[in-house]
Amino acid sequence: MRDETTAEKDMAARTRLDGILARRPVMLAPMEDVTDAYFRGLCRAFGADFTFTEFVNVEMLLAGAPTVRRKIELAPGEEPTVGIQIYGANRERLVEASLIAEAAGPAVIDINCGCWVPKIARRGAGSGWLRDVPAMAEMAGAIVRAVRLPVTVKTRIGWGDSPPRPDLMARRLEDAGVAAITLHCRTALQGHKGTADWSWAARVREAVSIPIIVNGGVETAADVERAFQETGCASVMIGRAALNHPWIFREARQLAAGLPATPPTVAERLELCRQHLRHNAAIRGERHGVHATRRHFQGYLSDVPGGMDLRRRMLVDETLTGNLALIDAHEAALTSAPLAAMPVA
Ligand SMILES: Cc1cc2nc3c(=O)[nH]c(=O)nc-3n(C[C@H](O)[C@H](O)[C@H](O)COP(=O)(O)O)c2cc1C
Repeated sequence: MRDETTAEKDMAARTRLDGILARRPVMLAPMEDVTDAYFRGLCRAFGADFTFTEFVNVEMLLAGAPTVRRKIELAPGEEPTVGIQIYGANRERLVEASLIAEAAGPAVIDINCGCWVPKIARRGAGSGWLRDVPAMAEMAGAIVRAVRLPVTVKTRIGWGDSPPRPDLMARRLEDAGVAAITLHCRTALQGHKGTADWSWAARVREAVSIPIIVNGGVETAADVERAFQETGCASVMIGRAALNHPWIFREARQLAAGLPATPPTVAERLELCRQHLRHNAAIRGERHGVHATRRHFQGYLSDVPGGMDLRRRMLVDETLTGNLALIDAHEAALTSAPLAAMPVA
């Protein structure tokens, strides 16, 4: 185990990260069971500048669990624009796991200090670290010392039982050598509910000199621009809106370039359903693959005439061929029937 040592730093990786952060990047948030290599690649193709793996449990990573090892496998070529996110409650175990994550070749190691899910936070992992910010900073510092790559932290504005002081937390993390902080502008006790208050990100940005990535409640491409303007943050990170509508990255790029955003066509939406289903069935097995794709259908099929009806039919079919046939039949019906006759939902 390498703890508390000072690893020779990968200056090229640091320069590359600084370069990305200097260009107002729009990032894909880490999402469990969603941000696999396929989805990261998809979002990158639409214009996401940086992506993250889903969070990886350090105990399972250290135990060598094959399912977890697979989560940190990167696709060829994505290394410069992906971070591997780890989570755990024990500082030494996080340090050990960060070395395994580093060996997988990402651009950064990201530490999850924001997951609110009770079974994780109660054990002291994820947002559990917010209950002891000095310990959080010590843990982050130990990882910074142990690895060569830049270390980032994704966290929330506070636990939520007292007035949040994310500015003080950010200063401690900066002093610990953390390269950037993602701030989900909700408390841990809020979970995913309530509004994300971006003014916290603006305040934190003023308190430190490391880049702040603002996260939470970005729903449209116009929100991306608004988040940059209202917070002055280096980067904006998108979670659920990308899960439903990965085209948000393309639209955000268009708006940033002063162009009108072009929403996806019906054909594009249906084709993405097909591609995603095929990918998930190949990687996860047919039944699990079909199930894992379902969470995207509501978003992918919105604005498709009759899309919600198609979705209802797909939700009762667990086969790949059945789902593909339903999509094909729907597309054929759309091209033969006058569009105006088809209800949107
Ligand atoms: C399905 C799902 C899975 C998530 N998994 C993770 C995760 O593995 N690591 C993490 O830091 N946050 C995770 N989050 C939180 C998101 O990264 C993000 O912080 C949160 O959704 C707020 O951003 P949004 O309003 O843009 O969705 C997850 C969120 C969702 C909806």
